[in-house]
Amino acid sequence: MSPLDETSARRPRVFSGIQPSGTLHLGNYLGAVKNWVAMQETHECVYCAVDLHAITVRQVRAELRRNTIDLVNLFLASGVDPERSIVFVQSHVPAHSELMWILNTITYMGELRRMTQFKDKTAGAEGESIAVGLFDYPVLMAADILLYRADAVPVGEDQKQHVELTRDLAERFNNAFGKAFVVPEPIIKEGGARVMSLDDPAKKMSKSAGSESSYIAVMDAPDVVRRKIRRAVTDSGSEVRGGPDKPSLTNLLDIYAALSGDAIADIEARYSGKGYADFKSDLAEVIVDALAPIQARIRELEADKSYTLGVLKTGAERAEAIAQRTLAKVRERVGLVPRP
Ligand code: TYM
Repeated sequence: MSPLDETSARRPRVFSGIQPSGTLHLGNYLGAVKNWVAMQETHECVYCAVDLHAITVRQVRAELRRNTIDLVNLFLASGVDPERSIVFVQSHVPAHSELMWILNTITYMGELRRMTQFKDKTAGAEGESIAVGLFDYPVLMAADILLYRADAVPVGEDQKQHVELTRDLAERFNNAFGKAFVVPEPIIKEGGARVMSLDDPAKKMSKSAGSESSYIAVMDAPDVVRRKIRRAVTDSGSEVRGGPDKPSLTNLLDIYAALSGDAIADIEARYSGKGYADFKSDLAEVIVDALAPIQARIRELEADKSYTLGVLKTGAERAEAIAQRTLAKVRERVGLVPRP
């Protein structure tokens, strides 16, 4: 019996998702996927390519399709095991959109307006021309999580506020209509939870950031990684150490530590008396070595698309089974007449 069948003894369950909205970078890997892989040892895991979230920003059709499959390939190549975990595409399970509607009826405009990501994404835009989907995006995220009765949600720091909204909505629904949802906890791992831009350590590493040199893409070739790290901004002084006065070095040390598993203090000690150049050239090799096996496996998966499609077919079926049970309970709690 699959460990994810509803009848098996329940380990704590996690749900997490990533948008297939462009180039995948080291922030996504360290902030999310790397932890997802580790959590398979202790949790039942449900991992999703959230394509309905991606379309809150206009996408090019062919690119969205390709990015969605590329993202799933990254999950698989990084070590997400579809025998143990459910891997699927959000739009394949319509229950996400249905639950979102029901949650919309208990969500306040005020709380959505306070979401910092919404504020960032719409800074300078006129209210008249902001898409409702962008505003409502956190409610879809809440639906994703609550449908699977997830106990925990591993994410990077930037998603914490959305998980908190999810908790509020779950509690509000349970109090108003009777218990239907598990109230989930965010899990934010220290190392890698906030990978910053290589150009500007005040900004998070992001695929939407203007310049390509600000992020390391998962598929970057070794020479590209080396060049980007060589050019990454550093702080004044020459000492390899972290700290509030050294935001750039702190970021580079975090990346080194998260990928190598070494403690920051050990890395600092190793480079004491050496300059930035030595540290940077070793960091580049740490990144190249970490990405090489993932890139190789992605190439294999790209050569045989049927494997990934098979994973998604089974994943959608397994996800749907869980989602429909939650949705049936929610409908009953709200007073919707069951379909005869
Ligand atoms: P998204 O697609 O922007 O990012 C996916 C994951 O990567 C993390 N992340 C980072 N972590 C560290 N440093 C960075 N620079 C960095 N950039 C991104 C994010 O925190 C996230 O964990 N709304 C979500 C997707 C989503 C979701 C969900 C997540 C939809 N439904 C349900 C969890 C549960 C988003 O836009 O993430």
